[in-house]
Amino acid sequence: MDILKVEHLTKIYGSGENAVKALDDVSFTVSRGEFAAIVGESGSGKSTLLNCIGALDQPSGGKVYLNNTDIFAMSEKKRTIFRRRNIGFVFQSFHLVPELTVEQNIIFPLLLDYQKPDQAAVDEILDVLGLTKRRHHLPGQLSGGQQQRTAIGRALITRPMLILADEPTGNLDSQNSRDVVELLTTASRKYHQTILMITHNINLTSAADRVLRVSDGRLTDLGGTCNEKLS
Ligand SMILES: Nc1ncnc2c1ncn2[C@@H]1O[C@H](COP(=O)(O)OP(=O)(O)O)[C@@H](O)[C@H]1O
Ligand SMILES: [Mg+2]
Repeated sequence: MDILKVEHLTKIYGSGENAVKALDDVSFTVSRGEFAAIVGESGSGKSTLLNCIGALDQPSGGKVYLNNTDIFAMSEKKRTIFRRRNIGFVFQSFHLVPELTVEQNIIFPLLLDYQKPDQAAVDEILDVLGLTKRRHHLPGQLSGGQQQRTAIGRALITRPMLILADEPTGNLDSQNSRDVVELLTTASRKYHQTILMITHNINLTSAADRVLRVSDGRLTDLGGTCNEKLS
């Protein structure tokens, strides 16, 4: 089943002489539980694509369907709630709340949505992330890798339909990068979590089910070429 359907997505920044076509007629689908990687040169349109899919940015044309819901057909207010409940984000720069502990950061999206966290689920996520002993630490007391694992926990806690990760390993050394991708892979296998991850590190795409390349705002599906060993 397709959880994400992108149809003829276009994004133009600016106008007239200064217009930049960041996305040029992008169409693709991602099925439930799939872990797809997006690669491409700097400036090719990868972040623009992810931001439009996550409704952090407004496309100039085209449609984004999440579980058959046209996310740009709803009001902005509804879209904000829909995003909070259905999409998890992981960014290069972690974006944790510095005053909150690891555990509080992880449950933050639930609190924003007036939901009561399920302590067993929180404990399980802390365990999967290897952060049980760090649950009461503040982000400033953690390594970069631990901070990113906390951000992944925050994305997982709502069991979103889709996790969007924009260069989640961009600020990490190679060992931590491998750990973070392994965690995303575990989430995809264990929870059938659908994930779309941008990476500039081609070595990290071997864990993905499928690789998509963005070049000059256009998308090419490279398939699951280097993934035989995982299947
Ligand atoms: N807010 C913006 N205003 C104008 N141009 C932008 C903006 N954001 C991105 N761009 C341009 O759109 C193109 C794609 O950018 P981006 O999606 O950030 O690429 P990538 O993530 O692949 O490095 C680039 O040419 C970039 O300069
Ligand atoms: Mg980018």
